[in-house]
Amino acid sequence: MRKKILFGVCIILFVGAIVWYALQKPKEENKDELKIGVSLYIKDDAFVNSIVSQMQTRAVIYEQRTGKKVALNISCADGSQREQNKQIEKYISLQYDVICVNLVDRTNAAPLIDQVHEANIPLIFFNREPVKEDIFRQEDVYYIGTDAKETGIQQGQAVADLYEKYTKLMDKNQDGVLQYVILEGEMGHQDTALRCEYVLQTLQQEGILLEKLDADTADWLYSPAEAITEEWAKEFGDDIELVLSNNDEMALGAVSALKAQNISAAIFGIDATPAGREAVRNGEMWATVDCDAEQQGKILLDMVTALATDKITEKEGIKESRYVRVPVTTYVSENIK
Ligand code: GAL
Repeated sequence: MRKKILFGVCIILFVGAIVWYALQKPKEENKDELKIGVSLYIKDDAFVNSIVSQMQTRAVIYEQRTGKKVALNISCADGSQREQNKQIEKYISLQYDVICVNLVDRTNAAPLIDQVHEANIPLIFFNREPVKEDIFRQEDVYYIGTDAKETGIQQGQAVADLYEKYTKLMDKNQDGVLQYVILEGEMGHQDTALRCEYVLQTLQQEGILLEKLDADTADWLYSPAEAITEEWAKEFGDDIELVLSNNDEMALGAVSALKAQNISAAIFGIDATPAGREAVRNGEMWATVDCDAEQQGKILLDMVTALATDKITEKEGIKESRYVRVPVTTYVSENIK
């Protein structure tokens, strides 16, 4: 009987040791497939979709290079934080290797962060930035995006440079003041407040006189921006000289509305989406700020694979700094008429 018990204990210890050893092995060795969960705040955001499609392209390149499969599970929360939380709970229960979140409500990330941390899964936020205290409340929480202030400054700089070059064309009534409207992104989004603040501050610092005709929020989207601009066109007509838009999609809505009323105005966006670039190339938009969706998607995928295979230590300083800020540049039209 004693012998049997001893034998049983030995078996248990042996199996335990094997399990322990397997858990200690670097993740990369025992993984042929990396399971990555991505949750987006909505389905139809052009810029966010450019980042995600770049992630997909990069995942294929990674698979070809390493022979490991990257299973990217992408879900959309339809603007509901509750829905997003459910999606993340699902990723946790299925033991995903890394979770990437494009947060619905960027002011309320703490519960989600704690939950993912408890499951011991690395978490990367992108594009919609949680507050700093939330990013640092647990280990293995990161943010990838641009510097919102810098995007506003560069938009302002582009307006100032082009005003110098095309003063007569821009200041249609030649009163030495630029009459402007501003299309704002979602309220409460880090990019909305900072882009509005710094584009205007930059223009003031450049000594450009401005008169605000109106401002309204179109939630980053083309159609609401088109509808708002249609109203502005009726109200202000040719008095509109400058349209400052917090992103390209809304700027394109303004392009369409003003074109329909035969009103010419200098329209500026931010993002450099494919459609935004096209409009800059053909002179419908005067400039945009390139937020480099391609680079953001690439860095995201690099981070994801590094975290999933325990190679994150190779990413210089990121473990401590937690933030990756992708540089932005200005993309200006050479076709202004
Ligand atoms: C901004 C971008 C917008 C929209 C928004 C969504 O950075 O400029 O176009 O994508 O993020 O969070």
